[in-house]
Amino acid sequence: MQSYIVPMLKKNVRRVFRLFKKPPKVLIPSAKRMHQYDRHLVVGKKVLDVGTGSGVLAEMAFKKGAMEVTAIDINPAAVKAAADRVPRAKVLHSNLFEKVEDTYDTIIFAAPWSEGEVKKPFDHAIFDTGVSERFFRDVGKYLQKDGRIWFEYSDAFPENFNRLEKLINDNGFVIDKQWSYEDWGELVERNVGVYLFEIKTLN
Ligand SMILES: C[S@@+](CC[C@H](N)C(=O)[O-])C[C@H]1O[C@@H](n2cnc3c(N)ncnc32)[C@H](O)[C@@H]1O
Repeated sequence: MQSYIVPMLKKNVRRVFRLFKKPPKVLIPSAKRMHQYDRHLVVGKKVLDVGTGSGVLAEMAFKKGAMEVTAIDINPAAVKAAADRVPRAKVLHSNLFEKVEDTYDTIIFAAPWSEGEVKKPFDHAIFDTGVSERFFRDVGKYLQKDGRIWFEYSDAFPENFNRLEKLINDNGFVIDKQWSYEDWGELVERNVGVYLFEIKTLN
């Protein structure tokens, strides 16, 4: 009996809180997500942070020893937030690699992983409307030889998750290492896995 009531109460409390919360303009990263990056992310000297959001990963890249970080985002509010948070970074308003000209030894993309329609700029942080596919199709042009890609995704929508490895391999890359943890998936209302992949070029 109690095992049913407690999750139901938690779910409804979350719903009530959501009604009163001002919607954020950029994704606020959870402590668990940041912990996973902090434990595993390794960066080179020159880093590209794709979909920088609040700029947390650009900031972490500097802390981990990067000398140069370029951070890009399609959401103008994210561009402002990241520029304010990480003044050392070069922050660009760019739809994926549209404004990127250089090559990098580390490319990070914490991708959106849910299914749905983008109706306002913030939604780019949530819904994958083909951005992961475009990312893997084009990322090779911006990655230096022996460079590494760090890509985050979730198994919340199994169809998208299951095609990820093929997408990576078909574009000439291979997953070298991966880590994951379980967390509450707000949109699917169940626990989901949050995966961090370290990806290298397939030789
Ligand atoms: C899941 S959020 C990650 C934000 C931040 N890196 C973090 O770890 O908290 C994904 C980010 O990618 C951005 N994004 C989505 N599609 C994009 C695109 N086509 N070009 C550039 N940025 C994009 C979103 O606006 C959002 O800020």
